[in-house]
Amino acid sequence: NQDQKIDRLMSQMSLEEKVGQMTQIDLNLLAVNGYQNTDGSLDKEKLKKAILEYKVGSVLNPVGRAYSVETWHKIITEIQDLAVKKTPNKIPVIYGIDAVHGTTFTLNSTLFPHNLGLAATRNDELARLSGNITAREVRASGIRWNFSPVLDAGRQPLWSRFAETWGEDTYLTKQMGVATIQGMEGDGLKNPTAVASCMKHFIGYSAPRTGKDRTPAHIPDIILREYYLPQFKAAIEAGSSTVMINSAEINGIPTHANEYLLKEVLRKELGFKGLVVTDWEDIIRLHNRHMIASTPKEAVKIAINAGIDMSMVPNDYSFFTYLTELVKEGQVSMATIDASVRRILKLKYDLGLFDNPYPEKSAASLFNLPEYGVAALQASRESITLLKNENLGASPVLPLKKNAKILLAGPGADNLPSLHGCWSYSWQGNNSKYYPSTTKTILQAIQEKTGKSNVTFYGSKEYNNEVNFATESIFKNASAFDFIVLCLGEDAYAEQPGAIDDLDLPVNQLKLAKAAINTGKPVILVMTQGRPRVINSIVPGMKGIIQAYWPGTKGADAIADVLFGDYNPDGRLPFSYPAATGDLVLYDHKFTEKIQETAQGFEYNGYKPQWPFGFGLSYSTFEYSPIKVSQKDFSGNETIKVSVEVKNTGQLDGKHSVELYSKDLFASVTPDSKRLRKYKKVAIKAGETVTVEFELNKSDLEFVSQKLETVTEPGEFELMIENQKVIISYK
Ligand code: IFM
Repeated sequence: NQDQKIDRLMSQMSLEEKVGQMTQIDLNLLAVNGYQNTDGSLDKEKLKKAILEYKVGSVLNPVGRAYSVETWHKIITEIQDLAVKKTPNKIPVIYGIDAVHGTTFTLNSTLFPHNLGLAATRNDELARLSGNITAREVRASGIRWNFSPVLDAGRQPLWSRFAETWGEDTYLTKQMGVATIQGMEGDGLKNPTAVASCMKHFIGYSAPRTGKDRTPAHIPDIILREYYLPQFKAAIEAGSSTVMINSAEINGIPTHANEYLLKEVLRKELGFKGLVVTDWEDIIRLHNRHMIASTPKEAVKIAINAGIDMSMVPNDYSFFTYLTELVKEGQVSMATIDASVRRILKLKYDLGLFDNPYPEKSAASLFNLPEYGVAALQASRESITLLKNENLGASPVLPLKKNAKILLAGPGADNLPSLHGCWSYSWQGNNSKYYPSTTKTILQAIQEKTGKSNVTFYGSKEYNNEVNFATESIFKNASAFDFIVLCLGEDAYAEQPGAIDDLDLPVNQLKLAKAAINTGKPVILVMTQGRPRVINSIVPGMKGIIQAYWPGTKGADAIADVLFGDYNPDGRLPFSYPAATGDLVLYDHKFTEKIQETAQGFEYNGYKPQWPFGFGLSYSTFEYSPIKVSQKDFSGNETIKVSVEVKNTGQLDGKHSVELYSKDLFASVTPDSKRLRKYKKVAIKAGETVTVEFELNKSDLEFVSQKLETVTEPGEFELMIENQKVIISYK
């Protein structure tokens, strides 16, 4: 069996071969001209150095940009040829990639909305489908390891990776993350439709105190366990094969050196048996950034002894040299090395790499099938969140008529990066211009709906081009149009280059919006953005507002579908949309979050976002009956049923996410004012009533106690579904 094969193999491997397996290098080290390479051609000498001399077990990423499936096949084949034909033990290489919202580094792949948009769909099945289609296209490219999904809770909207999160809620993150992992791994890792997933970034990466990427977070254990850990626990139970570690430090300890988190929590408490990989250069950073290791070699010793299995080096071979020395000197034990190598080899066996390390024909035939585009369109449509739809005369401004005369403006109107976002054909996502793309811009998608003569665009394709903000020329003929559609938000960015000091929408965009409002024409605002930029000052002047996140290859189609009523919007915000950068109170805040003294005493008014978590309008209206519960008192492991009738009182069929929240009235740890416990998305025809039922047991009401245990305390809980409330009691 497999364990015996691994035992046999390990008994034949030298120390150097083992350390090589623990080394992951960037393709830059193999490519002709390194980072300057654009075509994926490999340098034979560099390849020999990596595979034969340093016995490297893993390679990652493209060099800078995206490749065709054929180029990927050539790269993988060349690497594997050397690994399985010329090394003593013929161990295949495992290749890893960031396919975080579709197969982002293969040309002509399907790009879904980023996780933030998928979370707005409240449709776990779409997350599963996006995970599965991504897995197929990654494997079709010859790659079997995907550094996805992000499970970091998006509780700090300044963070430049906010779009990669599922928003601020832990339960939503858990549901969507697990569905994605099932989509990637559920078919079985040997299957050509599966890849190994990678839970990232363990743990607390998304909570930098200042909002800047890779900067320190202060997270007390009780908070870590309440909001950041449950999604990793659920993902491990769902079978995710690998985990990547948080680059930053928490509470003064770099996570890559944190034995408590990596051994006690991840391995012992959560029972994770899979592979632990570092993030980019994070071992050496223990020396040159975090300053906890006085030499690079000491950094290697600290990280490996803390529980790292594989080092994403990625740009030199010093890790190999240091770790080999450390073992010879007895500073890292052979047992530690063996445990890591065993996990790496197991993953390679599980993925079928020992049977066939090459790109598989059966997988390649599953690239870019027509149904993937259908799924991406559906995901984008369900993500679009309608935030405002004011009446114009007797009826709401949206949807627009297809023969309306539209003035289209704004830097996002004819722009691909602000639809694709980060990790799209390049790390920063701004390289769309280099590639043929089937993605329509918002301009093109609107033209398809209205005909070219009904829409006039003033602006350029480049986000920062002044032409987009030349308000006088843009609006001078505004009176000739029925509506202005203004596309604002954010260009693509990733990680540190996406740092901002405040969330306010940039001044030039706000000026453009104000000029549009001043024309007196009804203005519809479309926001494509990776995090909620504050638009407080322009919201009152807008007649309609559409939040589209970074919606992917079918994003513009979905936006146009909603604008013109070909799709009835049903997205719900996965975060609290702030009204001010300085007011980032989350929906599940504590009661005392912000107390204001008044003449009468004080009042709790802590939660005043622009739009609350869960907000999202439809072109229909939905009415809720009072909540029914199968029993108001329950105890032990009993399950109760909570149901509600929802009527579509509008004129249009629509989908609707019904969301159940709870509030613990009194608890030994200050209770959150509200927590999402369940959601179910249902399709309801105009005039129809459906009954939505949830099952609830004590684990749905639990919290982390002062002793850091997960408990449900006896007492009363308020259950809330939309505007309906009921009190239940757990004995
Ligand atoms: O997977 C990523 C991670 O999310 C950020 N740093 C680089 C890794 C590999 O590209």
